Amino acid sequence: MPDNHRILLAARPTGIPGSEHFRADVEPVRPPGVGEILVATRYISIDPAMRSWIGAGPSYVRQVGIGEPMRAGGIGRVVESKAAGFQPGDWVQGRTGWQSHPTLKGDQTQKLDLSVGTVEDWAGPLGTSALTAYFGLRDVGALKPGETVLVSGAAGGVGQIAAQIAGIEACRVIGVAGGAEKCRYLTDTLKLDAVIDYKAEPDIAAAIRRACPDGVDVYFDNVGGQILDAALLSLRMGARVVSCGRISQTGAAEPYGVKNLGALGGKRVRMEGFLVFDYHDRYPEARAYLAHHLRAGRLRQRLHVVEGLDQAPAALAMLFHGGNTGKLVVGV
Ligand SMILES: NC(=O)c1ccc[n+]([C@@H]2O[C@H](COP(=O)([O-])OP(=O)(O)OC[C@H]3O[C@@H](n4cnc5c(N)ncnc54)[C@H](OP(=O)(O)O)[C@@H]3O)[C@@H](O)[C@H]2O)c1
Repeated sequence: MPDNHRILLAARPTGIPGSEHFRADVEPVRPPGVGEILVATRYISIDPAMRSWIGAGPSYVRQVGIGEPMRAGGIGRVVESKAAGFQPGDWVQGRTGWQSHPTLKGDQTQKLDLSVGTVEDWAGPLGTSALTAYFGLRDVGALKPGETVLVSGAAGGVGQIAAQIAGIEACRVIGVAGGAEKCRYLTDTLKLDAVIDYKAEPDIAAAIRRACPDGVDVYFDNVGGQILDAALLSLRMGARVVSCGRISQTGAAEPYGVKNLGALGGKRVRMEGFLVFDYHDRYPEARAYLAHHLRAGRLRQRLHVVEGLDQAPAALAMLFHGGNTGKLVVGV
């Protein structure tokens, strides 16, 4: 039986998390009890929200304790099962944490249906980031065909799916991302109508005006801060701002003070935040939509795999430096 390699939280970061906040550990595998399964992890999802789970500030879930394995969702293969409905060899997703061989509760773990998509599809366009894009854009953003949709963080896990759903729904789509390579991915591979490289633009508000001369109907905001502020200046009457995340503010010494909220009243703009987990009961609906467009070749994705459990802390830091293109996972 292999050992369970784990990465534990060692200290709470005040800024961007790094390797110094974690430590590696090895323990004997814990054989599953009744209702449990032993899993060999293959992919671990790396998410910006992890920063709020380990910091000292407020979080929407319980903070990970010092000395506990880092919390994470992951995909793996069942090695041994004492839970009904699971056999050795089944692919599953669940709360693996940053662990190579976790013992998981069967009732908190889901078997993957590989007739719908590959294991890599389940890590990407059928995974939680894609569900976030689906509910954020369609329910919160209430997008309609023919509208103009601006997506920030457009080359990331959530952003790349949100931008493509907007295209599938016959919208004009403009992506905001950092760097020429990410922008090329968005135009050449994902076929967005226009892109803005915010790192090369001295004036983001002017760049958004140029790319969206008739204004923006839906702004899907993954980053907050200055890009949100600039987008507010280009909103059309009745626009919706989907507040999905605000990664630009993670670890910021001073939170950025948004100046242009005055646009909301006169233009009857609705700005709304959401958490994907609130839509849990409707995940099958979203997955059916995503799988349909995946099969039809209309939904592409890049899975950015950083191999090695010991690389998980460095992978987490990558999100905040823009080192990933597409959905970031650690391969175990
Ligand atoms: N509401 C929900 O339920 C929910 C669920 C999942 C995720 N989210 C949120 O969705 C957003 C995207 O998450 P993800 O997992 O898909 O991550 P991601 O977009 O794959 O990775 C983060 C990206 O953010 C960009 N970024 C980092 N610092 C930035 C800054 N200062 N200004 C502008 N962009 C910056 C980087 O891209 P560039 O190189 O382009 O800068 C980086 O690659 C996050 O805000 C996350 O918190 C929300």
